[in-house]
Amino acid sequence: MSLAVCPGSFDPVTLGHLDVIRRARSMFDEVVVVVAHNAAKHPLLAVDVRVALVEGAVADMTGVTVTSWDGLLADFLTRSGAQAVVKGLRGGADVDAELGMALLNRHLSGVETVFVPGDGALAHVASSLVKDVARHGGSIDDLVPPGVAAAVSAALEERA
Ligand code: PNS
Repeated sequence: MSLAVCPGSFDPVTLGHLDVIRRARSMFDEVVVVVAHNAAKHPLLAVDVRVALVEGAVADMTGVTVTSWDGLLADFLTRSGAQAVVKGLRGGADVDAELGMALLNRHLSGVETVFVPGDGALAHVASSLVKDVARHGGSIDDLVPPGVAAAVSAALEERA
């Protein structure tokens, strides 16, 4: 049974993330989506909300589960026995951001990262941009799975 891990902040999960999770599932028997902490980011959504939103978004996919992890991703990889990390690439900026993490995760755990080109039609979809659009009153309905826009609005209102 092959197992891949799709890690990320998922703050919030977008259609771009779902595209990558689907591609990972097409290559591996099982996929674990790991909602992890990125020390460089201050999340808008609580971790349990992020997990619930990803769970809702992958509910129709078999062999895909969702969890959160508060430690080093490399430790999760070792503990879970995953064969690979799967990450999506939208462009050069993603390569710059992802390569160091891939090398470090391999150094620490021996687990390789497989990069998949995301759907070109979703190349502009990033969680940070989605939040910025929502923050300024724009619609994000066609950028995120159902239910996510409402959760982002609620979190923004709570913050205001
Ligand atoms: O969606 P993101 O923010 O680009 O995902 C980055 C994430 C959360 C996968 C990365 O920051 C991570 O793996 N965090 C867990 C802690 C860790 O292992 N840090 C070292 C990364 S090499």
